Amino acid sequence: MKSYKNILQKIGIVLVLLLSTACFAQAKKARIVEDFNKNWNFKLGDYPKAINANFSTADWRALQLPHDWSIEGAFNKDNPTKQAQGFLPAGKGWYRKIFTVPANWKNKAVSVEFDGVFKNSEVFINGHSLGIRPNGYISFSYELSQYLHFGKQNIIAVKVDNDAQPNSRWYTGSGIYRNVRLVASEKLHVAKWGTYVTAPEVSAAKATVRLEVSIDNENASAKEFKLVTSILNADNVEVANTTSTEKIGAKTSAKKIHNLTVNQPKLWDTENPNLYKVVTKIYENSKLIDNYETPLGFRYFNFDSEKGFSLNGKPTKILGVCLHHDNGALGAVENIHAVRRKLKLLKEMGCNAIRMSHNPHSLEMMQLCDEMGFIVQDEAFDVWKKKKVTNDYHKDWDAWHKQDLEDFIKRDRNHPSVIMWSIGNEIREQFDSTGIAITRELAKIVKSLDTTRPVTSALTENVIEKNFIYQSGALDLLGFNYKHEDYKDFPERFKGQKILASESVSALETRGHYDFPDGIKAWPTKYGASFDGNKDWTVSAYDQVKSYWGATHEENWKTIKKQDFMAGTFIWTGFDYIGEPDPYPYPARSSYFGIIDLAGLPKDVYYMYQSEWTTKPVLHIFPHWNWTAGQEVDVWAYYNNADEVELFLNGESLGKKAKQNDDLHISWRVKFEPGTLKAISRKDGKVVLEKEIHTAGTASKIDLKADKNTIKNDTYDLVYVTVSVVDKDGNLSPNANDLIQFEVTGGGKLVGVDNGYQAGLDSFKANSCKVYNGKCIAIIQSNGKKQNIQLKASTGNRIAPSTIDVKVE
Ligand code: GAL
Repeated sequence: MKSYKNILQKIGIVLVLLLSTACFAQAKKARIVEDFNKNWNFKLGDYPKAINANFSTADWRALQLPHDWSIEGAFNKDNPTKQAQGFLPAGKGWYRKIFTVPANWKNKAVSVEFDGVFKNSEVFINGHSLGIRPNGYISFSYELSQYLHFGKQNIIAVKVDNDAQPNSRWYTGSGIYRNVRLVASEKLHVAKWGTYVTAPEVSAAKATVRLEVSIDNENASAKEFKLVTSILNADNVEVANTTSTEKIGAKTSAKKIHNLTVNQPKLWDTENPNLYKVVTKIYENSKLIDNYETPLGFRYFNFDSEKGFSLNGKPTKILGVCLHHDNGALGAVENIHAVRRKLKLLKEMGCNAIRMSHNPHSLEMMQLCDEMGFIVQDEAFDVWKKKKVTNDYHKDWDAWHKQDLEDFIKRDRNHPSVIMWSIGNEIREQFDSTGIAITRELAKIVKSLDTTRPVTSALTENVIEKNFIYQSGALDLLGFNYKHEDYKDFPERFKGQKILASESVSALETRGHYDFPDGIKAWPTKYGASFDGNKDWTVSAYDQVKSYWGATHEENWKTIKKQDFMAGTFIWTGFDYIGEPDPYPYPARSSYFGIIDLAGLPKDVYYMYQSEWTTKPVLHIFPHWNWTAGQEVDVWAYYNNADEVELFLNGESLGKKAKQNDDLHISWRVKFEPGTLKAISRKDGKVVLEKEIHTAGTASKIDLKADKNTIKNDTYDLVYVTVSVVDKDGNLSPNANDLIQFEVTGGGKLVGVDNGYQAGLDSFKANSCKVYNGKCIAIIQSNGKKQNIQLKASTGNRIAPSTIDVKVE
């Protein structure tokens, strides 16, 4: 009997334990955040009646967001987007989705969050317009509750109007191209972007944390509640907490402040991006009713007019690149895996900073800059009141700039990666006195929301002292675009000012294309320059062709590295982007400025940066070794960590060379003979690295390399496969241009192809791609099936097909 009782007791204890863990687990989260990207219908054109319940979308396409319809269209010289946007179509389109919300959400506050819609969106719920948002880069949300049918079907429709063209100096994409979420919380909740966390004092011993929380009470009655703040480290261990009892009136918003201390904080920097998070919880009568997370990183920094930039007390040059928001063959479609791949390539190059050109980027980009350790220049505008192109943001300036700027700062101000706010790039108002008042107004808006970061702007005026944005006196940090020759005079001309090269270089290259003899050329000749382009719209990959306003990569970096006062540089650009293929005309449709091409394949100059910006040993020689016998070929080497490099052709030494003075590469002029070109770098007589390039024989294989071996079956994950045409020994066929047919089976689908050639007019969405200078890429996305994926690549008869498998996780 006794043992029977014991057993019952034990079962009871286990049950209580199980129940309490279940309650606790349930109680950890009160706010519901749902992926709202799936099951949308889409159609190009204008369908105002789509807001009605009885409208039929039978002939609309079913798709999953994020989506960009421009990238799906054909390149056409006559598209009104013109060259600046890569000749892709724009126009109008509608999205519509039927969804149900549970009946028990009746008393909740429900909202829909859009990270970015290009552009002029209008959102309708069950026939009611929730509002318009002209700015295509801004994140916004709408409260839905009052229009929802709880426990029943609802219809959300989104009109996107990107028709008025041209409206940008680069490719924008069209549609709901970033993520969408549905958020349900209790009527007493943390407001949208409702937290602001700062760390007023940071040292190795301790950090003080100040959290400002905006709370909305949408209830018809006043509320008393408990506000709990916890700070968790990267292992989710709580390192600080505080609780207060608060009151809030009916239908009001209020700000509450919590102060905390974290002992021995692990600091955030670009090498060790240690992160924490702040968890805010609201309890009403001991019941958890809201939870909200805010990123947190402890770091301090300083811009100094003589010593440049320092992070956590350590002098740190900002080694940055500018990026536009497109993801190459995916167009504007945002995908965290695409962003991670870009940032990983940049990190490996030694880059430590990103300038978000010239507009707010995605949440994923911001999150990954925090996680991967990039210093961010967060930029709001390319245009103020005065236009750059006919239908750009100047039309929306008066009505929207205040709200857009405020929303941008509120969204991004908790990211430790964000170190400075740029209120504009090469703004027209720098040339007239209206610039003074606008600069002051914008700086004031920024400062009203964040006082912890400097306000800057990217300036271009030749006689900078006559620049009205500068003259406003409202900038904390002066950003200069180009004109590297003038930098040396800046300390004298701008006494006591903090200075950054906000944009530099604008050199041009096509991956794998080489013109001889080498020699620096500026482009185009009509500006007194010396190069007018090649017939096949290529630009030599030696770092020697620059736009007439720019510099070669080497010219710029040689200047910057010597000038301590200069906080750093942002190279235009990290990656090629769609649009702005200046100065080439059609069919050129994407830019030449990238250190890495549009497909994500590094150009040679990538290794110049790697040799300078990292400490890992680098030895990179180029070009390829398939030329005509007797031809004179310039062989370049980028190297570091060595005293000299010796070059050998078919075993015979062509001599040792070493960089002199401020050289960033060495070179040999070599009479071509087929065989093996070999370079050896040595330090103190000891070999550091060896590099060989072989003359490729007949192309006989398709080599496939995936950037990862597994894929999640979540319908988002991506695998990038690099396709190379090689000879029997694996040497790249540097002139191959075979058309590769792709076939994907199993749990994936092909979502993009690209070869990085800037004047290619084949669709990024085709099932085939020509290798360009031997290479292209195929992008596979999970289709949600839990099946392994196989990619087959074939060329017809010339080369045997190849396959590669990707395992589903
Ligand atoms: C800059 C401008 C960039 C890009 C670049 C091309 O002046 O800020 O957006 O157009 O020129 O060289």
